[in-house]
Amino acid sequence: MSVLGEEVAAGLEFPTGFLWGASTAAFQIEGATTVDGRADSIWDAFCRRPGAVAGGDTGEPAADHYHRFREDVAIMRDLGFGAYRFSIAWSRVRPGGGAANPGGLDFYDRLVDELLENRIRPWATLYHFDLPQALEEKGGWANRDTAYRFAEFAATAAEGLGDRIPFWSTLNEPWCSAFLGYASGIHAPGRQDPVAAAAAAHHLLLAHGLAMPELRRFAPSAQSGITLNLYPVEGPDPEAVRKIDGLQNRLFLDPVLLGRYPEDVLEDLAPFGFPVRDGDLEVISAPIDLLGINYYRGYVVTRSPSVDAEPAGPEWIGAREVRFVPDPHAARTASGWQVEPEKLTGMLLRVHGEYPHIPLYVTENGAAYPDPVTADGAIVDGDRIEFLAAHLRAAHAALARGADLRGFFYWSLLDNFEWAEGYAKRFGLVHVDYETQRRTPKHSAHWYAKVIASNTVP
Ligand code: NOJ
Repeated sequence: MSVLGEEVAAGLEFPTGFLWGASTAAFQIEGATTVDGRADSIWDAFCRRPGAVAGGDTGEPAADHYHRFREDVAIMRDLGFGAYRFSIAWSRVRPGGGAANPGGLDFYDRLVDELLENRIRPWATLYHFDLPQALEEKGGWANRDTAYRFAEFAATAAEGLGDRIPFWSTLNEPWCSAFLGYASGIHAPGRQDPVAAAAAAHHLLLAHGLAMPELRRFAPSAQSGITLNLYPVEGPDPEAVRKIDGLQNRLFLDPVLLGRYPEDVLEDLAPFGFPVRDGDLEVISAPIDLLGINYYRGYVVTRSPSVDAEPAGPEWIGAREVRFVPDPHAARTASGWQVEPEKLTGMLLRVHGEYPHIPLYVTENGAAYPDPVTADGAIVDGDRIEFLAAHLRAAHAALARGADLRGFFYWSLLDNFEWAEGYAKRFGLVHVDYETQRRTPKHSAHWYAKVIASNTVP
């Protein structure tokens, strides 16, 4: 008799060895922002800006994971996780962006050992939105020098931990870092300068390319790559689709996997300058072992002003005439995002089909829901279970059609600091009571544990 009983027989089985887990990021869960030599990141500074973050929320205390990581690892062990994806805070390791902080890696050292003792494979992300503020004051990602400083940080992290971490992402969602950080300014550092945003996009990719040899040097047996937030784009107007797909997806996929920027995207970005130097693309296209895909939803786009659509925000530099068409009938998460599981299948198949062969991992997929706590302390999040089941079925459909998908990480393990939305949006499998820091696995966590144990989605 299997864990899920009859359901297993009717379920969709994943390949043997499929990697199951969940993701987090340093600033969103750790807290402890002023201890052990850590300095400000751009998010510490941004949170102090009045009105920047909902509710005036900050990185304190977050989920206090810095002090409670053993409890969190025990929860993951009990849920049967095969892997855990977290990020390493640059501002702990090289707090000013330059000199290394002795002991700056100690927390991650303890975390990695604890994971391995519990048979959970660590997956480290080197950059998840948290640039040292000292580097922002020198121009941030708009300054080419930041890419070289990132390579130094990558070297320190890999030298200290590379013998024990089998999976690495250099960057998480560079689109967000560049365009939300430097064009719309809704993410740190909160700049609204399209020229800086275009430069940031290139320098982030350069940083990825410069970090890869450091990972090869210090973590030679690990599998390393990058995590991109890919959005399927569709709509009746091919020009609108081309532009948004270009800026969101191909601007990042093509240089990393094909060694060239798409000509049409370069044209769209030309008015903002795009500071590519000879040799940069060879650096950026250093071979990678895996591609992490963060999938949340797709876009339907148009340029027609007569359609009931939202104009592109300031982050869409080079595509400001495009509009985003909402589906009034679609189910939505608490973030207002449309629930579109079937588009995940298409995105996985597209990347598999259009780019040279690369193992794929869904490094993030998840949803915020209201998550009320019942009188007996339970969180009965049927909406999240439905969301997750539908996306896992979509991932399985891509596998069945040949995509080389190797693993799936739910976003997120814990409720956490959802950037400009603060703590109000809860994405966790595990509920966090921010007053007491009490953890409670939601119903979805128990459901996911059964999926993992049976390697099957009902
Ligand atoms: C993507 C980001 O990587 C993560 O930090 C964020 O919290 C989730 N999406 C949800 O918005």
